[in-house]
Amino acid sequence: MGARSGPERVTVATFESMKRSGEPIVMVTAYDAPSARLAEAAGADAILVGDSLGMTVLGHQTTLPVTLDDMLRHTAAVVRSVSRPLVVADMPFGTYQASPDDAVANAVRLLAEAGAAAVKVEGGRHLVPLVERMVAAGIPVIGHLGLTPQSVNVFGGYRVRGKETAEAIALVEDALALEAAGAFALVLELVPVEVAAIVTEELAIPTIGIGAGPHCDGQVQVFHDLVGLSAATPRHARRYFDAETAMREALAAYVRDVREGSFPGEENASHASEAVVAELETALPAASGREGE
Ligand code: KIV
Repeated sequence: MGARSGPERVTVATFESMKRSGEPIVMVTAYDAPSARLAEAAGADAILVGDSLGMTVLGHQTTLPVTLDDMLRHTAAVVRSVSRPLVVADMPFGTYQASPDDAVANAVRLLAEAGAAAVKVEGGRHLVPLVERMVAAGIPVIGHLGLTPQSVNVFGGYRVRGKETAEAIALVEDALALEAAGAFALVLELVPVEVAAIVTEELAIPTIGIGAGPHCDGQVQVFHDLVGLSAATPRHARRYFDAETAMREALAAYVRDVREGSFPGEENASHASEAVVAELETALPAASGREGE
């Protein structure tokens, strides 16, 4: 077998060494070939095929309706489109909560069929037995603490988690438990800066923050928030581009050009030879039975 050429793929081991060296890990969500290609071209170390796709691309109000089939299709599209970033697939709501056997089988599908390098699950210490089983089965796992959107109905909304002492202590304990169970990284979503800093300090595995301040070992953001394709930009995100306006203007120009007759132009056309046109015109009345009309 020949040596693999091209950029070196980011792995779980890369995450470990980036934590040790203090090099920030950059993760961004992507859900399809174009967004994945753009994320890789920008130099992202990791791509999260987040179940946020329920809202960003499938038009749902929450992540809850996202299915395993959705995740398999979108993860496979991302995997096919990149060569360097570590691709992590979210396990959608309902695919790991009910039965550990089903959870492992579902995670295996995300790796074996869709080609993900790891999966992400939301929740604290109650997931320890599951994370242990997954890791033992050869499935790299990222934990997700703080605001865990799949539990929106339990929390009663999307708000910062870990502001109160008891909640902050529980969060640190959950983080340590997931690390001990074998998770190789943790996403911290909407966690106070100070609490995220303590978790980051306490853990040997990297923390990846979203709305958790600058002291995490890495950051993750939702593609659509960064490029201006979300209806509203959340406080924890920075909008680097107004893709919505740029794309709307481009499409409006297309609509206008068709209506005005300036598109398609000569540069968009291909031609048949004069001979073919002449033969066609001769053959047509006979073929269509319009002779003598
Ligand atoms: O689904 C997602 O995009 C996520 C990020 C917000 C971390 O879980």
